[in-house]
Amino acid sequence: MFTKKLIIANWKMNGSVAKVDQDLAFYASHVDTNQANVVLALPTVYLHQAAQRKANFAIASQDVSQFANFGAYTGEISVSMLCESGVEYVLIGHSERRQYLFETDSILQKKLENIINAKLIPVFCIGEDLDLRETDKYKDFLLNQLKLLTKLTCSISEVIIAYEPIWAIGTGKIPTSVEIMEIMTLIHSFVQKSLPHVKIITLYGGSVTSGNITEILQIPNVGGVLVGGASLKPEEFTKICEYA
Ligand code: PGA
Repeated sequence: MFTKKLIIANWKMNGSVAKVDQDLAFYASHVDTNQANVVLALPTVYLHQAAQRKANFAIASQDVSQFANFGAYTGEISVSMLCESGVEYVLIGHSERRQYLFETDSILQKKLENIINAKLIPVFCIGEDLDLRETDKYKDFLLNQLKLLTKLTCSISEVIIAYEPIWAIGTGKIPTSVEIMEIMTLIHSFVQKSLPHVKIITLYGGSVTSGNITEILQIPNVGGVLVGGASLKPEEFTKICEYA
């Protein structure tokens, strides 16, 4: 899909109209996108504003409705609305949404199908918690999360899969390179076996900083990163993009 590394900023529920303007102006003059493909996943209310300004990066939504495309679903935002706002990517299955918004596999399946049918690119997030990591069951758990991709009723040709161990998100702890490589291999062999026609890029996410980016991007099959906290600081995020 891409020859350059993919760096996705996930602002989560942070930002303001002023911050979007300031940070995007900063990135326009500081981020060299010859080195990396940069994507900004912003809160829904800022997507249109960001897409208007976009110069050297693409825009992602952090969520989408399970319902398509218009109708009596108060508060929901559909894929067609995202397309109209200039969105190209959608995060899906992030552990915070699975945990706080109770997003189940059946909800995620509908969202994924909507994203794919609208020709947006899904960034499908998987990851185990610390209890699972401490048992020998974490690989089965991750494979089970991946199985959702085999249940889709629409045909899928490309997907970005982000491995984000929950115990590494916002904690400053990151898995060793060997541990990350193990999961990258697990994902690639699963897709090769179960979805051989699907192109994938695998990302790592969880406490990525300018201090650990070089090492992470050297791990085989790491096609890029998903960056939370560090993406809120423009100088720090720029350094992360430079290392890519
Ligand atoms: P973090 O978050 O970089 O703050 O650990 C990553 C994520 O949740 O996508």
